[in-house]
Amino acid sequence: ETSCDETAAAIVNDDGDILANLVLSQLNEHREFGGVVPEIAARAHIDHLNTLIKAAMSDAKLRFEELDGIAATCGPGLIGGVMIGMIAGKAIAASQKLPFIAVNHLEGHALTPRLIDNIQFPYLLLLVSGGHTQILVVEDVGQYKLWGSTLDDAAGECFDKSAKLMGLPYPGGPELQKIAASCENPGKALARFSLPTPMKGRKELDFSFSGLKTAIRLEVEKLPPANEKGELKRADIADLAHAFQSTMADVIADRCKRAIERFKAEYSPAEPTLVVSGGVAANIAIREKLQTLCEEHNMRSYAPPIKLCGDNAAMIAWAGLERLQKGPNGFKGDPLDFKARPRWPLDDAAK
Ligand code: KG4
Ligand code: ZN
Repeated sequence: ETSCDETAAAIVNDDGDILANLVLSQLNEHREFGGVVPEIAARAHIDHLNTLIKAAMSDAKLRFEELDGIAATCGPGLIGGVMIGMIAGKAIAASQKLPFIAVNHLEGHALTPRLIDNIQFPYLLLLVSGGHTQILVVEDVGQYKLWGSTLDDAAGECFDKSAKLMGLPYPGGPELQKIAASCENPGKALARFSLPTPMKGRKELDFSFSGLKTAIRLEVEKLPPANEKGELKRADIADLAHAFQSTMADVIADRCKRAIERFKAEYSPAEPTLVVSGGVAANIAIREKLQTLCEEHNMRSYAPPIKLCGDNAAMIAWAGLERLQKGPNGFKGDPLDFKARPRWPLDDAAK
């Protein structure tokens, strides 16, 4: 997995055991730029990927010839990075005469719940990360229905940009959650700022976050600076971060509520489950809100362990394994001339 700013290598088996799972984050390389720089990311993947693959093999105590297939993210993502992981995967597959599986990064996030808990199809999936915000029905391996996505920024992007406006370091999501937790009077903080709730109450299942980000900018401009550098008072940031985070949780839960109603009506699943995955799924306020929503709707709410919510290679290995086992009849892997795809929707109808 090399589609963004994590270089990752993993080995899983069909019992769902994770035999190795290494993630090398490039946070330090990108921090001074306040976001991921594609060229720097690609170069860092080149520098670290081979070492990481070797370390994963050694963690799992396996030799290449003992593997059954090689999966690599082939999109969507930053194309330079995607190509590096993809070519490394193809090289191992070619030299070991193993099937090569070209995995859609989003499919990795979508199937993670089955790696950990063997969640049965169909389930409803809220995918919230730095690059994507989607509501999907996961019907089967390779079979997805896209019900809603963001019209502008992704949820994680909105967390990161809003955090930056508040003067918090990159990556903003976790930092914003941390400072929001120190808000002294949550009720007062909510009343103090007037933040919009874009798309709330709308019938269609799309999201929009750019208005919320703009509102944060306007609120930040109104706050009194704590010093000559224009930094804000910690207590003000804590209040604003709390108001922002609970508004995000509120809009996301509103979209999910509609999706749950539609899912139950259209699929009548035996054990209805809402899965939330992607980096933003690590957010406690969002997790708790969705948990309550699911309880109200007799739905099971499921979020993978935080380590597997963000980008990792175990999810890519697992998606490759599921495709190899359950893909279309006679699927023996993808061709070695498979091209990396910067854009690659999961739902064929959305292409
Ligand atoms: O899935 P991910 O690791 O990478 C992408 O594929 O984008 O998601 C990264 C995103 C970043 O925007 C990060 O700020 C956000 O997930 N994130 C969080 C939290 N932890 C990570 N956002 C809100 N609260 C968190 N605790
Ligand atoms: Zn991701």
